[in-house]
Order: sequence, then C-alpha cells, then structure tokens
Amino acid sequence: MLGLLVAFAVFQEVITGSSLGVVYTEGGMVQGENIRLGYRRHMDVFRGVPFADIPGRFEKPQRHPGWDGVMKATEFKKRCIQVNLIMTDTRGSEDCLYLNIWVPHGRSVSTDMPVMVWIYGGGFLAGGSMGANFLDNYLYSGQEIADRGNVIVVTLGYRVGTMGFLSTGDSSMPGNYGLWDQHAAIAWVHRNIRSFGGDPDNVTVFGESAGAASVSFQTLTPHNKGLFKRAISQSGVALCPWAINKNPRRFAEEVALKVNCPTDQTMAACLKMTDPALLTLAGSLSLASSPDSPIVGNLLLSPVIDGDFLPDDPRNLFHNAANIDYIAGVNDMDGHLFTGLDVPSINSPLVDTHVEDVKRLLGSYTKEKGKAGLDNAYSTYTSTWGSRPSREIIKRTVVEIGTDFIFLVPTQAALYLHAANATPTVWAA
Ligand SMILES: *[C@@H]1O[C@H](CO)[C@@H](O)[C@H](O)[C@H]1NC(C)=O
Repeated sequence: MLGLLVAFAVFQEVITGSSLGVVYTEGGMVQGENIRLGYRRHMDVFRGVPFADIPGRFEKPQRHPGWDGVMKATEFKKRCIQVNLIMTDTRGSEDCLYLNIWVPHGRSVSTDMPVMVWIYGGGFLAGGSMGANFLDNYLYSGQEIADRGNVIVVTLGYRVGTMGFLSTGDSSMPGNYGLWDQHAAIAWVHRNIRSFGGDPDNVTVFGESAGAASVSFQTLTPHNKGLFKRAISQSGVALCPWAINKNPRRFAEEVALKVNCPTDQTMAACLKMTDPALLTLAGSLSLASSPDSPIVGNLLLSPVIDGDFLPDDPRNLFHNAANIDYIAGVNDMDGHLFTGLDVPSINSPLVDTHVEDVKRLLGSYTKEKGKAGLDNAYSTYTSTWGSRPSREIIKRTVVEIGTDFIFLVPTQAALYLHAANATPTVWAA
C-alpha cells in the first residue's frame, strides 16, 4: 500500500512539475524547455530570447519590433561575430543580441526570485553567452548556479572585436557598441524578469575578465540608474590598463588600411559598408610581444571614453555606483598567461629568466613614471631577493609584477574609490 502511494506521488510529481509554461515578454510570447532536476525540483530554461533588434553596424542596439505567436526559445543562438581561436577565420553572426534564462522551481512556480546576470570575458574580442561547449556541456550554463543558489540566472550576448568596439574617437563611430548591448540586456531584464518569476529590484550583474571590467563599466555609466543593485567583478575592473583605449583612432586607421578604406573623413562611411568578416579579421589580436612591448598593450578593441556611455575617465564616475553593492577580486598569479607571452622563459623550468627581463618588463609598465618610477618599482619587487636570487624567485617576480599591473592594483584602486563614494545600502524592509 505504502509502495503504491509513493509510486503515485512520484508519478504525480513527474506529470505536474512546476513550469512557467508560455511567458509574455514585451516583444511577444516565448516558450522554453522544462527539465526535471529531482523530487519537487524543476527548471525552466529559455535559450535565445531576443533583447534587442539585429543591430545596425557600429550603431547602438534598438528595441526588438516584436513577433506574433509563440517563439520557441529552446536553442542557443549564434555568438556575436568574432575571430576563431587561431584567428584564421570568423565564426558567429551580426544577429546575436539574445539572452538565456534559467528559472528554478520548487513545489510551486517561483516568484520574486533574486536574479544574476552573467557577462562573459574574452578580451572584448571573443566569447558567447553559452560559453565553450564540450560534449554538450556549456561552460556558462546557468543550471548549477540557479539550482544550488535558488536564483534566476541570465547570460547575455554582446558584440565583441571590431563590430563591438571599433571607434574613430569622434561622433562618426563613437565605439562602445558592446557595452550598449550589455546595458540593453540589463534594461530588458529589469523590464521583463517579473514575468519569469524574478524580482526586478534584486538583480546582480557579474562577469569575468573583460566581462568583469564590463560589470565595472555598467556600474559607472550614468545610464543604468535603478536597473541593478549588486555587482561582482571577477578579475577585471574599469581601471585596468587594458580596459580603456585612450587613442582609438590610431587602431581604427590600422583596420581601415587593412580593409582598403581611406583614413580621411570618409573612413567611417567606408568601414560601415565593409564586409563584417573582413572587419573582424582586421581586428585580430597581435601576438607579437616582448618585455619591451607587453601583450596587454595589444588589446586595442576595448571601451572608450565616448562622452556618452562613459562621460569621463572611469575614476571620476564612481558616484554613479554609490548605491550598488560591489565585490571585486583577482586570483593568485592572474597575470601568468600574459607574462608568459612577454617573457616565455618563465615557463621553462630549465632555462634562466634574466634579471634584465624583469627590468625591461617593469620599464614598460612604468613608462609614464620615468626613471624614478622604474627604480622605485625595481627596488620594491627585488627587496626580498638577497644577493643571489634563485631562478625560481626571478620567474615568480615576473608573474607578480604582471598580476599586480594587469589585475590586482587596479582592482584595489577601484574598491577604494567605490568605498569612498558608496552610500550605505538600505534595503526596503
Ligand atoms: C535579494 O535576494 C537575496 C538572496 O535571496 C536576499 O538575501 C535579499 O534580501 C534580497 N533583497 C531584496 C531587497 O529583496
């Protein structure tokens, strides 16, 4: 008898699992996929929900015109057009402004859930809302976080590389298109997430690397007021030396020459008519680097101070983040990947890394501070070396210098500025 009852309960649970069913959004109806995770545990997954129209080339995103009937949201859409891993070809599409949503349910359908919005990294050159895929396991699947944390997870797509960030440094092609895409997705979440069981006033934005710097930019822009409450930057902030291109025109002219466009006042018009795949390839990352010209200096397709999304240098914009709770962090040896390209010997256990390489790398990083800056930095980093530093300590010092310059010190600076400008959070009771 008991067995029968249990069997019946399980049967009931399976056929009546909690689901949102068809959801009304501002653009029209969407239907996702409902999956069963365990006893009285279900999840609705929506893949490829449009948060904006197909973007115009080098233009801000626009609202989606909407659709009739029920849109099936069961497949990830293509990532935004970008170079492939070996930079020989492109993948993805210009039609890429979509987001994905994971909504966990217990015994009944969720309401008023906290929401976490993920922004991927990839040097502003690559990445996708679903992340790398291995045997149908997507790196940025929101399923685990949504299930374990009992939160709604949203992952958004944004333009990267040339199509996301090329800027002539003036109003003809101001740049920051990828940041505007992220903002459009965050605003869409604020307007629509209640229909998915989310609390629009309890949104956290989080991201890693260029996604972490993006999170920081989203807190600093004046355009996100009231759209989210909390932010987490994992290895990257707006103050990182690679996060802003202060002279975007120079790289725009390089790209223009590669695609046979003039560099005079007709440059922007010509670029807008050029094939997006050619433009994307022309924005490939140069891997040429050395201690005198470190690789982080080659990340040129990044956000710009455009007088609109970023009205000023990021360090002067922290008042805009005053009401946002903020966590930022870095990893031990975060700069290893970069410094290993600049000083390859650090990765060879049998090869010496020369003290001269340490000086050259420090010299590049402290260029703006002149000889006094270099001397000061050199004595700081070598103060524990003693008279005969081991091969290993020299290699470790190179990684420390890179980690400090590329991630740690800018992150500390951002946290100090955030704290100095923050007004204490008052959550409505
Ligand atoms: C937002 O969600 C978190 C996590 O559930 C919760 O601790 C917090 O109280 C919520 N804040 C508001 C204002 O509802």
